[in-house]
Amino acid sequence: MTASPITFVLFGATGDLAQKKIVPALLGLFKAGIMPQGSRIIAFSRRPWTDDDYRHFIAPSLESVRDISEQDKKIFLSTLYYVQGTFDDKAAYERLKSTINNTQVLFHLAIQPEFYEIVFTQLGQLGVVKQDSKILIEKPFGSNIETALQLEKVLQNYFHEDQMYRIDHYLAKDGLWNIIETRKQDEALESRLNARFVQSVEVRLFEKIDIQGRGEFYETIGALRDVGQNHVLEMLAVSAMDLPETIISMPQARADALKNLKPGKLLMRGQYEGYRHEQDVKPESQTETYFKIETEHHNKRWLGVPFIIEGGKALDEKKAEVVISFKNGNEKVFNIDDGKRLVPRSLSGVGDAYEILIEKALEGDKNYFVSIDEIIASWKFIDEVLKNVSTVPLTFYKKGSAL
Ligand code: BG6
Repeated sequence: MTASPITFVLFGATGDLAQKKIVPALLGLFKAGIMPQGSRIIAFSRRPWTDDDYRHFIAPSLESVRDISEQDKKIFLSTLYYVQGTFDDKAAYERLKSTINNTQVLFHLAIQPEFYEIVFTQLGQLGVVKQDSKILIEKPFGSNIETALQLEKVLQNYFHEDQMYRIDHYLAKDGLWNIIETRKQDEALESRLNARFVQSVEVRLFEKIDIQGRGEFYETIGALRDVGQNHVLEMLAVSAMDLPETIISMPQARADALKNLKPGKLLMRGQYEGYRHEQDVKPESQTETYFKIETEHHNKRWLGVPFIIEGGKALDEKKAEVVISFKNGNEKVFNIDDGKRLVPRSLSGVGDAYEILIEKALEGDKNYFVSIDEIIASWKFIDEVLKNVSTVPLTFYKKGSAL
């Protein structure tokens, strides 16, 4: 844990993610004493606001944070400052620089990914990136393998690997870590996780919600890129990987599992009825809101075992799970959104995924973040599947139905 005060610079401070997740998580971390005394949050955004305007704007988002007194919320709000500017506005970055002083800085990019490069470059050229600075980057990291590599190249110009924290919030879910803990603790289970005993593995991320007005974003992305390239493949990776000897090599173990995948066969693409009437969606849109893929692994452990992965929106239930079916008819189900962490993560006891992510970035624990190898392997897999989308016509389904 850092003892000296830090400056947390939040790009996209008025966005949905900042309001719903990031700023409430920062409050949680203040409350838990994880953000060192004297730390400050700098909200960077376009609107012509003062510090107080931003504090008023964000205050309602903090209502969801429980067990905190009004007085503490007030103190927290007084640590928030506002810098107004666009991402290419040099003067705005100069203003930002003057707020940072000599503290350690965490930059958090919760903005549209098309602006990542420009922000990396501006920060780098401004000279605010120090040895101890860190940068948290939301998914999607690129939109295919080429754009991901290009982004990485620009990022590497100004930050070294130890400073980069690429986010997939599923890696901060207790349910996901419980897969690893269970595999470690239950030797009988672990010894049966292979082609000799397992019939098939299903990994699914079903959501009840639709695209919730995010048509502009979703149209160019679709379910395969939105949740397939990241959350679903990470669930698969922790289930299929060889357990690493040390926790330090977790990202490597996950990357190895992903590199091991055979090209996926797209079994089905779906689109919920009414999607084409959503705002900013084309009337003839071919974007999938559901997908189902079958794949296998090259390695001996899983040879011939089908892995079915699927994800979708506007379905009949919210469910993130891994189901392992054994040849003897038994099943092992891991529910990612259920249950407490089997082995405590830290003494702080913070529990929300975004609290965990920021805490782990502060600690410098990269096991909770996506390595560039995982990004490359997952895009390689998804890019390959996307090449074949035109051969699999869309199946239309009713909102709220089970496919
Ligand atoms: C996000 C996707 O990464 O994950 C959203 O962009 C999706 O479309 C969300 O709704 C699902 O996360 P969770 O934690 O609600 O399962």
